[in-house]
Parts: sequence; structure tokens; C-alpha cells
Amino acid sequence: MTKSSNAMWGGRFAAGPDAIMEAINASIGFDQRLAAQDIAGSRAHAAMLAATGILTSKDAEAIREGLLTILSEIETGKFQFSTALEDIHMNVEARLKDLIGEPAGRLHTARSRNDQVAVDFRLWVRDQCDAVDGAIKALMLALIGQAEAGVDWVMPGFTHLQVAQPVTWGHHMMAYVEMFARDRSRFADARARMNESPLGAAALAGTSFPIDRHMTAATLGFDRPTANSLDSVSDRDFALEFLAASSICAMHLSRFAEELVIWSSAQFRFVRMSDKWSTGSSIMPQKRNPDAAELIRAKIGRIFGANVALMTVMKGLPLTYSKDMQEDKEQVFDAADNLMLALAAMTGMVGDMTAQVDNLRAAAATGFSTATDLADWLVRELGLPFREAHHVTGALVAMAEAKGCDLPDLTLDNMRAVHKDIRAEVFDVLGVGNSVASRVSFGGTAPAQVRARIADWKERLG
Ligand code: ARG
Repeated sequence: MTKSSNAMWGGRFAAGPDAIMEAINASIGFDQRLAAQDIAGSRAHAAMLAATGILTSKDAEAIREGLLTILSEIETGKFQFSTALEDIHMNVEARLKDLIGEPAGRLHTARSRNDQVAVDFRLWVRDQCDAVDGAIKALMLALIGQAEAGVDWVMPGFTHLQVAQPVTWGHHMMAYVEMFARDRSRFADARARMNESPLGAAALAGTSFPIDRHMTAATLGFDRPTANSLDSVSDRDFALEFLAASSICAMHLSRFAEELVIWSSAQFRFVRMSDKWSTGSSIMPQKRNPDAAELIRAKIGRIFGANVALMTVMKGLPLTYSKDMQEDKEQVFDAADNLMLALAAMTGMVGDMTAQVDNLRAAAATGFSTATDLADWLVRELGLPFREAHHVTGALVAMAEAKGCDLPDLTLDNMRAVHKDIRAEVFDVLGVGNSVASRVSFGGTAPAQVRARIADWKERLG
């Protein structure tokens, strides 16, 4: 027995699709997440059709009522989604026909699923930009909270994961504030660029009906209608920009997560995660594993994967719409869900973690971390060229290393054996506290600088 053809587009078809055709073709399993946007788009379209006299206001009103009923059916879980109806657009339209009869068939005047899905998906991605923006802001505030608490806690700063120079905890936290601020601005840029309405581009060429695209654009909160109908239905840059911004943000989260994994290890003991953010081992009773940090570290894999996947789907597609583009949604949904989860988990961990201040300070003093301060002192006080100061300092580091001590443990005589003019005041610059306090250049690690940057950010975040 052949299945009957599709009620929406089956006019020229005698038989329905093969079951596997239906399975590969249907998107309702995932695009039902666009229901609210689809209904908003249809309401805006119907109101415009009435305002321009393309529809009677009676039909438009019936459509509006029907769409509101459908929205509440979906929201309350009463709506029956059907795979045979392929996607959210046709599911909604078919239900509208059940509810209001003939006027439902007029809703699709001067519209195609091509511009319909483009507008729905833009609305969804635009909402996600706003949600991500709020989530990043919350994370920035949590980081600022840590920075304020530890504005002058001294810790090692690393290059190559080797102790480089002492820095402050506050400075380290504020580095991430800068990174996440750039993420926010990337999402804001993407949002501004995507905020044009493709509705009314119809299938690809525009329409002969006297529609008002400016009206639907304004109703849906877009800045303006898109300017080229071909581009309108074939563009997925907005989704790609969202994924690109998400990838960079997830990369930042991954870097910080890696630091938390290292810092919470028994070898570092820089931070302690509370029980809320730790997991145990089923065999090793002593373990406190930073699973949340590890999972955040890993999220970049699927998020960047989504970016690569959609770029690969889009590359080489001729204008305009091709069904390939239906593959855009699952990638974006998955990336958005996981980015939001990672941001929330990171915000929770940052708010909850306890810096092990004594361990940070002790670690800051290892690795000859004030060697640069010593070289700078030789330049400033003895007038040595920096290259020579570097050389003298290197000899002192080698001496300390041979003696198995740190730089401040050398005696003045030890120092004078390397350079006869060195004076006792040199010991002042060898302490980690003085070292960080001296780094007062704009954006430097000195607590005074960090305090100023915290104040800037608190003002900017409101
Ligand atoms: N489900 C489709 C998608 O997600 C909607 C657009 C279908 N357009 C078409 N010409 N078949 O892309």
C-alpha cells in the first residue's frame, strides 16, 4: 500500500515517501525547538498580510487566535508532533488547519519555508546571544569577586608553565575578565550583524504580493529587512558567527578549566574546590576529582566541532537554499546548550573555590622568580646595561642553584663575589611582595593597578 502524498506540497505526487526518505528528511525531532520563533514569525507575517490588504482582517484574526492556541498547546506539552509533517513549519500549519480550517491555507501567501526557517533560526540564535551575554557577565562578576578578595595575594606567574615572575591572584583572575569581555563583545557584534529580517524573501526571488518587509522586521525586533532575497534564504553566517564566537569563548573556558585542574592537584594545591564541585573515586577513597573543570575543558571539542561541521556543510553550496542547510540546527543547538552549561558550571566553581593563599605565596618564591627584579635593580642602581645585568643575575642564579637555595638566601658577600658594587638594599627587591608591588606600569600586576582595573570593570558592568 502506498502512503498518501504530503498534504502541504504533495499536489504533484501520487505516492508518499519511503520510510527512510521520511527519516532522513524530517527535522521535527529537533526543529521543534523553534516553535516559539516560528509562531512569532507567522503572527508577524499574518498581521502584515492584513495591514497590506493581502488577507482580510477576519482571516488574519482567525490565524492569530489559532497560532496562540498552538503556542499554548506546545508550551503545555499537548501538541502532537508528526514526522510525516517533516518540520516545525508544517506541523504548525497543519494544526492551524485543524483549528481554523480554510484561512490557515492563506498564511503561507507571499512566504516560503525558506524565508520562514531563516527568520525562525535568526530569532533563536539572537535570543541565544542574549542568554550567553548574561551568562558571561555572571562569570565575569564571579571572577571580579575572586580578584577583589585576592588583589594582593602573591602567586607565581608562569610562562611555559615554568615559574616566571610573581604576580597577584587578582591580576590572574582579571586576565580572564578581559578574555570573557572580548567574548561578550564578539557575541554583541554577531548579534548586531544578524539583526536583519529575511522574512519576505519568499522562496528566493521575493514576491509579487505588495508585502511590507519593514513592518515584519520591526514587529520581530529586527533593525531592517535583509537587502537581497537570494542572500536572505541562503545565508547562515549568523549561525556560523555564533559558533565561532562560542568556540573562542569555549576555548577560554577550557584554558581556565585546565588551570583549575592543575591548581587543585596535590602537586600544586593552589585552590581547593568545595564538595559541591568535586567528585570522589569509587576505588580510591582519598580522591577529590575536578570533574566539572575537566568537562568544561572538553566542551570546546563539540563546540568547535559544530563550527567546523556547519562551515563544511555550507562550503560549496550554490545559491540559494539547499536542504543541506537543515543540518545547521542540531550543531547550533548542541553548541549553545553546552556553552551555557559550561559557563554556568565555571561561574559556580569560581564563586566557590578557595585559594590556598600560603601555598600560592610559597610557590611564588620558588624558581628564582625575582631574578628579573634583581637584574632591574642592577640596571637602576648600578647603571649596568640590561644585557650585563642579565648576565650577572644569571651567575647569581647559578650560584644559588649550586648551593640549593633561593636568591634571597645568598649572602651579600656571595653577591659581591659576582659583582663588587652590589649593596645590601638589593635584598629588598628579592621578596615577592615587593616584586609585585613594583610592577606599577599600566595593566601590570601591582595591587594598585589591579584595584584600578577592578574598579573600571565594576563600573562598566554596572
Ligand atoms: N526544515 C527545513 C530546514 O530546516 C525548512 C526549510 C525547507 N525548505 C525547503 N525548500 N524544503 O531547512
